[in-house]
This record gives sequence, structure tokens and C-alpha cells, in this order.
Amino acid sequence: MTQKPELFIYDLDGILTDTAEFHYLAWHKLAEELGISFDRQFNEQLKGINRMDSLDRILALDPSKGQLSTDRKLELASQKNDYYLTLIEEITPAHILPGMVDFLDANKKTNAKIALGSASKNAPAILEKLGLTSYFDYIVDAAKVKKGKPDPETFTAAADALGIDYSNCIGIEDASAGVEAVNRAGMFSVGVGDSAHLSHADYLVEDTLKLKFEDVLSQFHKKKASL
Ligand code: BG6
Ligand code: MG
Repeated sequence: MTQKPELFIYDLDGILTDTAEFHYLAWHKLAEELGISFDRQFNEQLKGINRMDSLDRILALDPSKGQLSTDRKLELASQKNDYYLTLIEEITPAHILPGMVDFLDANKKTNAKIALGSASKNAPAILEKLGLTSYFDYIVDAAKVKKGKPDPETFTAAADALGIDYSNCIGIEDASAGVEAVNRAGMFSVGVGDSAHLSHADYLVEDTLKLKFEDVLSQFHKKKASL
């Protein structure tokens, strides 16, 4: 059976727009208020991770704070989201990461479908602000999955909804947990970022400007030919 890409699944934060930075700033502010400090290196572990799991990872940095009640944790998570919502208020199509409209347009010209695979509850609203919603055949956000990344469910849910074989899917991610999720789904993984965090991607580029649709296709075929 010839294999060809039939579905591209895009991460949102850090792939379509630079909201990964806003998540970092919002968590950082909340953590400082709690007397916990963390740096960008630690932040790599938060990328792709859902809201409550991210909070747990931050709280685990300071075990002396003890176990917080569920209500208190929900309050903190909601406070972080308020900081985040303020930061994303001004997002417009100008905030789409370089090269990504060209990439989506090239995808659209083929028969391959387009899905979003995001851990964020804010994903549909951000896609609207970016003016990108109409590109997407299917959207998976935090509300649609039981298990977040690195579990593969975010990606398999999109393929299942569109009736596409996992081996014909390509997932595009900036997070280590996201690349792991794509790999565990049995899909071709494209990492965008630093090899220090994303060396497990099937194909890696430094930033979205270097992400070219034709290159991804040829890397996909190269991998299939080597199997
Ligand atoms: C992911 C981000 O896309 O969404 C994470 O990479 C973020 O940093 C997660 O924590 C959840 O986002 P939200 O908007 O539901 O708090
Ligand atoms: Mg991301």
C-alpha cells in the first residue's frame, strides 16, 4: 500500500502563533507570587502540557508548600488564565508565525486534510483571532480529550474523527511532550525548535520560517521508503 500524507495536525501555541511565550509569562508571574521561581529551561517541560498538569509541575518545584486543596489549585489555574487572557487580548492575524500561512496554503492545495491538535482550552478563540479557523477540517482542543500530551489522544482523536490511518498523518509540534505524543500515535513527527528538546522528532527545523511544505513531504516519503 502506498502511503501518502492525508492529514496534517498542527499544534497551536508555538507553531501557528507565539502564544507559547505568553503561557510562559503568565505562569512565571503566578509562580513568583507564590514564591516559586523557574526559568526558560524548566519551561520547556511545560510546553504542550495542559493547564492543571502544568500547575502541578510548578507546585512540585517547592514541596515545602505542601499539598494544596483542589479548590485552591483551581483558583490558581484560573488566575494564570486571567493573566494569559490579558496577554492575548491584542492578538491579530499579524501574530501568525512567519511562513505558516504559506505552509497552510500549500497544505490546502493538496488533498490532505488539516486539523488542530492543541492542549489549550483557549485554542478555538485564538484561531478565530488569527483568522485561521476556516482552514481547519477538525479541531481538537483540551475539551475533546481525556488524556493530554504526551499521551497520543490529541492526535489520534483528529485522525479518528476524519477517518484517516495514523500512518498517513503528520503532526507538527514545538513541544517535547507534543513530539512524543505524535510519535506514540504512530504518526510522522515534525519538530520546530531546538534539537536539545526535540531530537526525537522524525524531522526537525529550527523555526517556522524554515518549515517548507515540500520538504516535509519529501522527509515523510524518505522515512516511509526506509521502513
Ligand atoms: C498548550 C501550551 O498548547 O496549552 C501549554 O503549550 C498550555 O503551555 C496548554 O499550558 C493549556 O492551555 P490553556 O489555554 O488551556 O491554559
Ligand atoms: Mg506548542
